[in-house]
Amino acid sequence: MSALSLCVKRVVWGLCIFCSVQTNAADNLLEMNTDRAKFNYQMFCQGCHTPDGTGGKSVPKIKNYIGYFLQNQIAREYLVRVPGSANSSLNDEQLAEVLNWMIIELGGESVPKNMQYYTANEVAKLRQHPLFEVVEYREMLVKKLSVK
Ligand code: HEC
Repeated sequence: MSALSLCVKRVVWGLCIFCSVQTNAADNLLEMNTDRAKFNYQMFCQGCHTPDGTGGKSVPKIKNYIGYFLQNQIAREYLVRVPGSANSSLNDEQLAEVLNWMIIELGGESVPKNMQYYTANEVAKLRQHPLFEVVEYREMLVKKLSVK
């Protein structure tokens, strides 16, 4: 094999590896539009949740906490089924995006290292079952979370 063809082979392999790493990252991040996510949070959520997620008397703290809900499937589903999410005027893609954004941006140390991002499909299914008696349901979930 000539030196030239060996060189070409290396470049092609290099490109393949580079491209596959790129696509995985993109899939995982849903190609999140952070500006749009932030704008939607500001328009539709932060009125209650406050700009930095601290919340208030009846609005739970999201800051450094929301990521704990990703520890189990029922709690993960809760973040979509809670009325503020499920009944919002955002479409499925935008809701998935804003939830992912809230977790990454405000979740701090609560966010699991191997975080699985919400997808539009997942959100579409879950928001068809919005919760009603939220307070007690939330308390039940929180008891099962391991919180630092
Ligand atoms: C009118 C006030 C209000 C608005 C607006 C609002 N929420 Fe909420 N949100 C709440 C309250 C109150 C809770 C606590 C659970 C409950 O009682 O519904 C909550 C809980 C949540 C939770 C679960 C967090 C936890 O710790 O329990 C998520 C996720 C959430 N909201 C997402 C959103 C998103 C996304 C938006 C914007 C699209 C939004 N909310 C808009 C009031 C609001």
